[in-house]
Amino acid sequence: MTIAGGIMALQGGNVERFRHELLAWYDRYRRTLPWRAGPGITPNPYHVWLSEIMLQQTTVPAVIPYFLRFLELWPTVHDLADAPAEDIMRHWAGLGYYARARNLHYCAKVISNNHNGIFPNDIETLKSLPGIGDYTAAAISSIAFNRPSNVVDGNVERVMARVFAVTDPVPKSKPHLKELAGKIAQTEIKRPGDYAQALMDLGATICTPSSPKCGLCPVQAFCQGYAKGAAPTLPIRAKKGPKPQKHGYVYWIEDGKGAVLLEKRPEKGLLGGMVGLPTSAWVDQAMEKTHLSFTIKKEATKVRVMHSFTHFDLDLQGIRVKLDRRTLKTVENYFWIEKTDAKNYGLPTVFKKALKQFL
Ligand code: ADE
Repeated sequence: MTIAGGIMALQGGNVERFRHELLAWYDRYRRTLPWRAGPGITPNPYHVWLSEIMLQQTTVPAVIPYFLRFLELWPTVHDLADAPAEDIMRHWAGLGYYARARNLHYCAKVISNNHNGIFPNDIETLKSLPGIGDYTAAAISSIAFNRPSNVVDGNVERVMARVFAVTDPVPKSKPHLKELAGKIAQTEIKRPGDYAQALMDLGATICTPSSPKCGLCPVQAFCQGYAKGAAPTLPIRAKKGPKPQKHGYVYWIEDGKGAVLLEKRPEKGLLGGMVGLPTSAWVDQAMEKTHLSFTIKKEATKVRVMHSFTHFDLDLQGIRVKLDRRTLKTVENYFWIEKTDAKNYGLPTVFKKALKQFL
């Protein structure tokens, strides 16, 4: 079946051909990834789950060393469930979105204690677990258990916008793109896990955000975006406003005997439960007063830390303080460590930047 321009419209038997071409390409060019089972090998659901949680909002190259380290430290879901929360948070440091690490631990405990260490294979039960939403449930169900599911992330949205030449801007068009993806990932599909991963690989290596390699694309013959010469411009993105700017203070508090003060941040909120240098609140306007829960004599420094989070940019002014340890004995959530250990402490990136400057 063809449409104007000689392109094979994605309907009827062409849907099957599309999947066939994509799978044949995947069999030849699939990426080797540490969480991915080799051809013909049954995937390990623990590996699939761990990787999918780490890959939420994080790139493959960033995830690989973390994934390998976690497996080395905690080879099974029972090991992860039994690990101290602080160890998990420390080894997560640098990956960002720290609520993921807390949910990872909760989820490991639920699987270990209530499910005998066996991950459920159906989307609804998966979605009832901490940290697992629509996308991750679909990805685990298809990749780990080879069940048909519509696995749609940003890569797949881009492929669909191009294949179907969707010109409505994202994010508004996301539900439509998901529906289009679902028309191809139907229930009678062969090799659903491989199909989901083939689409991911296509999006990551061929159908890339800029300069897509349409000449190498196994499904070029089906791509209306390509036929119209519009593939590189799709999907169209609605314009974003500038990020809000927040301000605050970050403190380097020394006791004069080689120790420095760290803070365990409150569980709720950004970087929740992570250990960092003490900070003030982060607010919309630059502040005059500090917001620490104990009184200090501040000493302004030239230290200035700029960090960009997803939803705002942060501008921190560094303050260096000498403090007598005895005055701080009863302050909750603050603790001293040897200054020389601070570098190895597994701090989130914003604090690593501050540390580098203070030292
Ligand atoms: N992004 C999300 N899940 C992925 C996976 N399993 N492989 C590669 N990239 C991914």
